[in-house]
Amino acid sequence: MKPGSRISELIQISFVSTGLLFGGCGKGSDAPESTPKSTSDPADRVFTIGMSQCNLGEPWRVQMNADIEAAAETHDEITMVFKDAQNDTLKQRSHIEEFVSAGVDLIMISPKEAQPLTEPVAKAYQAGIPVVVLDRAVLGDEYTCFIGADNVKIGKAAGKWIGRQIGEGAKIVELKGLMTSVPGQDRHNGFVEGLAGKGEVIFEADMKWLEPEARKEMDSALARFEDIDIVYAHNDPGAHGAYLAAKAADREKDIVFVGVDALPHEGVAYVTQGILDATFQYPTGGKEAVDISMKILSGNDVPKKIVLGSRLFTKENVAKGGEALN
Ligand code: FRU
Repeated sequence: MKPGSRISELIQISFVSTGLLFGGCGKGSDAPESTPKSTSDPADRVFTIGMSQCNLGEPWRVQMNADIEAAAETHDEITMVFKDAQNDTLKQRSHIEEFVSAGVDLIMISPKEAQPLTEPVAKAYQAGIPVVVLDRAVLGDEYTCFIGADNVKIGKAAGKWIGRQIGEGAKIVELKGLMTSVPGQDRHNGFVEGLAGKGEVIFEADMKWLEPEARKEMDSALARFEDIDIVYAHNDPGAHGAYLAAKAADREKDIVFVGVDALPHEGVAYVTQGILDATFQYPTGGKEAVDISMKILSGNDVPKKIVLGSRLFTKENVAKGGEALN
């Protein structure tokens, strides 16, 4: 079933909160001691998990929800309720508050931005609701578990890879993800470290993870600079937007395009088609989020942070499935 159809169906479902939370790692320190409400067979318990996705406008986020849904479907004891914040931070804050008042058993969130989502997440956590944060971190440590790949490592690998491709004085454009989100900051910092002073970054802009913004920024870069050798975009939609801008200016053949995400039907396909030169995998963590949630809901301790691996795809290795980042 398509995620979208299931999502709207699930949003109609009223909250069923028959399950109680047991101990589990990461509850707020003043969270009430929980004991099962009834003596009925724990196997009959149904848990409601509220998932707030920051937007569903990008293929990567649709894939994350689909991964969560596919994993959740293998567990009869959980009901998922998905919400889409449509890239609106205030809407996403309300989602968390709504989940708390509805008494869901666990919250998953992939937050748009770090700072504004930190408070509602902390409040939910203090109220004793476990919170699994996915992909974009919040500030502090008032959540149960964070799951995501290492964006500093990805940025660093991108910087090193680019450093190996370029000659002295190569001109680089960096199209950044939303810089109020932690992956944008980390992919930038890692990149600077990995590049280690090679080449020259002549243009940088925050394209907010959005392909149309990246295209617009790349139009400006092309208008201002006659020589551009490499574009490093913090995600594949950004790299693709830059490619389209360069193609419209008949300059795409002079430029190397590098992105991040490597979805099979997006970034990896772009590498196969020769649109991108490299992309670094950013796994959605959807399956892991469900696995961890099941552990939490059955009273097990879980790590505070789960770091997912990544792979590099280039035209040389794409047919072999890329290569793991060390
Ligand atoms: C999707 C996305 C991905 C990126 C991730 C970073 O919204 O922009 O392309 O890798 O978010 O959080």
